[in-house]
Amino acid sequence: MSQILTRRGISLDAAVSAEPEPVAVTALELAAARIPARYREARAEHPGITAWVDAVARAGKPGPGGAPGIAEGPSLLIAGPTGTGKTFQAYGAIRALLGAGVRLRWQAITVADMYANLRPRQGHDPERELQTLAKCPLLLLDDLGAAKASEWTEELTYRLINARYEHLRPTLITTNLAIRDLRDKLGDRVASRLAEMTDRVTLTGDDRRRGTVRAVA
Ligand SMILES: Nc1ncnc2c1ncn2[C@@H]1O[C@H](COP(=O)(O)OP(=O)(O)OP(=O)(O)O)[C@@H](O)[C@H]1O
Ligand SMILES: [Mg+2]
Repeated sequence: MSQILTRRGISLDAAVSAEPEPVAVTALELAAARIPARYREARAEHPGITAWVDAVARAGKPGPGGAPGIAEGPSLLIAGPTGTGKTFQAYGAIRALLGAGVRLRWQAITVADMYANLRPRQGHDPERELQTLAKCPLLLLDDLGAAKASEWTEELTYRLINARYEHLRPTLITTNLAIRDLRDKLGDRVASRLAEMTDRVTLTGDDRRRGTVRAVA
């Protein structure tokens, strides 16, 4: 064998030493690759959000490896004006759950991207995509109510929220809408379900993006 390899110019020693060293990779490190770069270091600081993280972690049941997994739990609605840190807090919450060792399959999508992905087009099964979002153990639905509404978007939003509502699946939702405007903008069926299924946190303050002062040389 080694003679064949040598004849072909392959050194067994080199091949073995080229194997990467096994490295212990934590769930948080794996998740970091899927978190958008801007939110990779996000920390959930708001007390309402850390309370939700604790409640979801407590709802976890031990899985096959002993680590708690989540199937059912409360949902959280993070409201507030543009740039107050809603998406930052939402990713911070996901990172906190992963850091606490909760076994977690999660998905994050902006509602505008979701509508774009679910638009009927050839060679693509939007129904399957909707079911994937409906069944994902933890879903971050970013910027609900920001996209222009139509009967079609209202129906899709209703079906997704209703599926997650019925199965008590933890859902993180961010919105620019004021709580009192949810019913007008999302329709009564969605707003009513959100009222029952979500804890609420409202972020206030200035737009953090505009507060950033860059040093100019
Ligand atoms: N607690 C924080 N510490 C440091 N940076 C923060 C914090 N919260 C938010 N930021 C930063 O402020 C900016 C705006 O935050 P983010 O994108 O979360 O706002 P948003 O409320 O989701 O805005 P929008 O409504 O437009 O989606 C981002 O660059 C984010 O990284
Ligand atoms: Mg956002």
